[in-house]
Amino acid sequence: MQPDIKKSLYAEAEKELISITEGETNVTALMATVSCILSEKFDYYFWTGFYVVDPKKENELVVGPYQGTLGCLRIPFGRGVCGTAAATRETQLVADVHAFPGHIVCDSRSNSEIVVPVINRDGQLIAVLDVDSVEYGSFDETDRVSLETLMQRIFAQ
Ligand code: SME
Repeated sequence: MQPDIKKSLYAEAEKELISITEGETNVTALMATVSCILSEKFDYYFWTGFYVVDPKKENELVVGPYQGTLGCLRIPFGRGVCGTAAATRETQLVADVHAFPGHIVCDSRSNSEIVVPVINRDGQLIAVLDVDSVEYGSFDETDRVSLETLMQRIFAQ
């Protein structure tokens, strides 16, 4: 996708999401709405959703709201792309998931992905946003900056 088109779609998505979610504090509602709007907006998003930090098992993620094919239910911190993003609190931009050590295959059609940590206003990690694509190298710095900004605006303000 051309960089200027991608940037304007992210700007649209952010505007829509900020408007729709205004005043909403329920995290499940926010996650479901973000998953829906993003997956509708971007053709290259194949799986779009959240893995949430399980309050009962602090070092484990459990699947949350998503759009797409069946996702794995649980991912320990440090495993795969999502677990690495959770353990490091750093966005993982992966052009070829098959080359990523410990990558967890939920749907073998996924070939690239981006995973962005979701931090609340108290600075606590509450989840990661996971987006997968069937194409290789779908995600770039525009996706990273736009999704990091979006997560901050929706979950930390
Ligand atoms: N690919 C992820 C697992 C989650 S699914 O793709 C929905 C990973 O390795 O963390």
